[in-house]
Amino acid sequence: MKTVGIITSGGDAPGMNAAIHSIVTTASFHNIQCIGFERGYNGLIDDIHHDLTLANVKHISHLGGTILKSARCPRMLEQKYRNQVIETLINNSIDGLIVIGGDGSFQGAHLLSQITDIPIIGVPGTIDNDIDGSDYTIGFDTASNTALDAIDKIRDTADAFERIFIIEVMGRHSGQLALNVGIAAEAEQIICPEMAIDPHLIVQNIAQHINSYLIDNGHASYIIVAAENTYPDGALALAELLTKQIGIECRASVLGHMQRGGLASCADRTLATKLGAFAVESLISGYNNVMSGQVNGQLTLTELEKTGLGTKQVDPYLLNIYTNKLN
Ligand code: ADP
Ligand code: F6P
Repeated sequence: MKTVGIITSGGDAPGMNAAIHSIVTTASFHNIQCIGFERGYNGLIDDIHHDLTLANVKHISHLGGTILKSARCPRMLEQKYRNQVIETLINNSIDGLIVIGGDGSFQGAHLLSQITDIPIIGVPGTIDNDIDGSDYTIGFDTASNTALDAIDKIRDTADAFERIFIIEVMGRHSGQLALNVGIAAEAEQIICPEMAIDPHLIVQNIAQHINSYLIDNGHASYIIVAAENTYPDGALALAELLTKQIGIECRASVLGHMQRGGLASCADRTLATKLGAFAVESLISGYNNVMSGQVNGQLTLTELEKTGLGTKQVDPYLLNIYTNKLN
């Protein structure tokens, strides 16, 4: 193993830079050179790359975003472009590829591994924490704290005005962020896909709970943390409907992409450092088509194909605490 290629792909996540730092420093320790391809799979298709040296990854671990840039790359869905990726890898004498990204990026990596012997290892980086094979993904802790900070601030104004707020957090199709920050913020209600609520009943269920809560507590702030995509028409539409239904003005706040940015937390930097180093060591040991993850504190390797099965559950104990509180 002489040269390793690296990409960051899909939704960027705080801690991706710490993973790059760790990969380059571990590789350097083993006398392996690193090359970074830019903008996810686009850089591999179009062969846009630069050397990653110890000097140019120094003091980047704290930075949000990714120094390699990230992007979606629909061309990867076509075989001819996946062949082009392999050509780029061969032209640059790449002996191993590390893909830092989410389960979509890993599906792409898995397809590449079907048409080349060059080994590929995934490192889970996404704020959604929706990847099978690692208890936590790089970026989830930082995004949780960023969302929590925003919700705490909204609680101040909600308290002052005794208002109802719906706060939409990211997560694509996963309620990991919503449940985590909803519990931490003592949200009065949390709605996320794992609760399998019939969309037609959401307004009715929430309204019922608000009414009984206000009867018990008098005028008070009331915060609903909602995972994106839980209510088909979005948080703003839900707020309007609720306002009509309960006759109290309800505000909506969509936290959006702020959750993806900011300084990476200590937990994300250390996780990224471990998983990045383990990815390099796994390449050296001859592994291929797997993701480096951490389960119950142990470093693990999971077949890339199995990282997107969607079997990862939200913490059942937390979910139960929330459900008991709601009732
Ligand atoms: P994430 O990796 O964060 O889940 P995406 O799902 O957007 O983000 O995937 C990132 C990129 O991975 C896509 O833009 C595409 O280039 C590649 N990708 C995703 N799914 C596939 C697939 N089924 N086949 C080939 N490439 C894919
Ligand atoms: O996967 C990370 C994520 O931030 C999701 O939480 C969100 O649904 C999606 O990416 C947003 O994608 P985009 O940046 O393309 O709007």
